[in-house]
Amino acid sequence: MKMITNETEPMELFETLAQLREETLASIEEAADLDALDAVEAGAVGRESAIASARRGLGQMDAERRRDAGRMINEIARDIEAAAAVRREQLAKEARAAVIAAEAIDVTVDYVSVPSGRIHPIQQVIDEVCDIFIGLGYHIAEGPEAELAWYNFDALNTPPDHPGRLESDTMYLDYGNPEDEMLLRAHTSPVQARYMEEHGPPVYIVAPGKAYRNDTVDATHLPVFHQIEGLAVDESITFSDLKGTLAEFARQFFGPTTRVRLRPHFFPFTEPSAELDVSCFNCDGGESSCRVCKGVGWLEMLGCGMVDPRVFDAVGYDSEAVTGFAFGMGVERLAMVRHGIDSIRHFVDYDVRFLEQFPG
Ligand code: PHE
Repeated sequence: MKMITNETEPMELFETLAQLREETLASIEEAADLDALDAVEAGAVGRESAIASARRGLGQMDAERRRDAGRMINEIARDIEAAAAVRREQLAKEARAAVIAAEAIDVTVDYVSVPSGRIHPIQQVIDEVCDIFIGLGYHIAEGPEAELAWYNFDALNTPPDHPGRLESDTMYLDYGNPEDEMLLRAHTSPVQARYMEEHGPPVYIVAPGKAYRNDTVDATHLPVFHQIEGLAVDESITFSDLKGTLAEFARQFFGPTTRVRLRPHFFPFTEPSAELDVSCFNCDGGESSCRVCKGVGWLEMLGCGMVDPRVFDAVGYDSEAVTGFAFGMGVERLAMVRHGIDSIRHFVDYDVRFLEQFPG
């Protein structure tokens, strides 16, 4: 734009400014992005712009002309700035819309569904039994699966010539030198001895875990299975406490009308020892054709007894001062009885059609 001086004709100035206005408004409309828009605006009204030099020229004019010319320049500058502001808002909106379109996720697209896992029926029974005993004030204890023969047998009053100590029955990791024989524990009872060595009385624990025996797989045997051990030691624990505790457990696990009976048995580490039967939850002992108890009316459940004083001696307890009871139950057996499962092998076949039947 031409320099404005005192000689500049108002008409000429008006036309020049009007042209600048039209051109600039068109360029603003055409600006493709914010950078282009900034450049157009700076060129029209910025410090180095035609408008700025027109303003500088105002100084050369006399007062009257300056007022009119100044008004014209300001109006046009305002128009340009207003148009730029509108376009700026529009471009920003377009930019946001482009980002949203680019980052959009189609939530209706089909996806690969991953079936969720569930807790194995054996673990479910372990959890349930442990919960019942926790409710009775017991704690959970654990011990190693690779065990010293001393804890598996000697501490539990099992003599060196006991048939269970033969290699044909027990899986040894290290066999032959009685001092440091190592094996895969044949029951969870060694946890009793380990726990009492570490903790003084009173003791109220259940110890779930794996046990190993050199058994051939059949419908009721696996070489690796699960047991839950129980141990209560206190100042005046009696056989009635044993029976009452296990009766309460049976009612909570099998149902409130369940009855229990004890049959004499033998275990090296309890005296007296017994096996506990529960009344058949299916027929309540009333049906000769019952598929669960086969008409017997009772289901063999677990081994138990009063802790032999020699076990207390072996772990350093004063066998004159305390008494206790212990029990051990097979988890697979509990699960089979509870669910009417005919073969223990189902638990290790890992057939989802079987496992899916135990949603937990
Ligand atoms: N440990 C015994 C077994 O495996 C069960 C048992 C535990 C018996 C505790 C009495 C006391 O058969």
